[in-house]
Amino acid sequence: MKFFLDTANLKEIEQAESMGILDGVTTNPTLISREEGTFKDMVLKICQVVDGPVSAEVISTEFDGMMAEARDLAALHENVVVKIPMIIEGLKAVKALSSEGIKTNVTLCFSPSQALMAAKAGATYISPFVGRVDDISGVGMDIISDIRIIYDNYGFETEILAASLRHPLHVVEAALVGADVATLPFKVFAQLINHPLTEIGLKNFLADWESVKDRVS
Ligand code: E4P
Repeated sequence: MKFFLDTANLKEIEQAESMGILDGVTTNPTLISREEGTFKDMVLKICQVVDGPVSAEVISTEFDGMMAEARDLAALHENVVVKIPMIIEGLKAVKALSSEGIKTNVTLCFSPSQALMAAKAGATYISPFVGRVDDISGVGMDIISDIRIIYDNYGFETEILAASLRHPLHVVEAALVGADVATLPFKVFAQLINHPLTEIGLKNFLADWESVKDRVS
């Protein structure tokens, strides 16, 4: 399973990258709006920190505008993946971009049928938003497991990128149902590592070691 960081914050990306287990980054207009600087400059800086796919989203909602933005973003760096919204014009753009060799991440996916259409169009990644479905009393993870079955039935190569993950259990469940990628806020990335029993256990081991350290040659 690949881990992407869902942020445009360079410090968070640098910190996760230093752990050696960061595979990529996803951004969206909301995440970009929280940081300083121009959009393209931010995307370029992220690409210089992480050696993996970096998703940057278009804001046009019609084909020509999406294509122009997508080509522009893809020209910034070889690792840029263009994020396209799951709408009809978006699917047309995904199909055209895929024939140009530009990688795409279809975003704002909330159903297996949308994921099927994205795969048919040749999307590199599909991003089902788990947490936002949970927020309205749905079961977001069921969408991921249905997509896994559908993609495996037909051998679609589109990677399932579990998005809108809000806590460690979401990540574990996404791994259990076979998501290819989990994109995580930095907070969740850190929560995956920490456990109070590890901290207490280590503290006790070190304290006990203090009492015997003179006997160690
Ligand atoms: C995915 O690419 C999105 O940027 C993100 O996961 C959305 O998460 P949210 O629902 O917590 O905003």
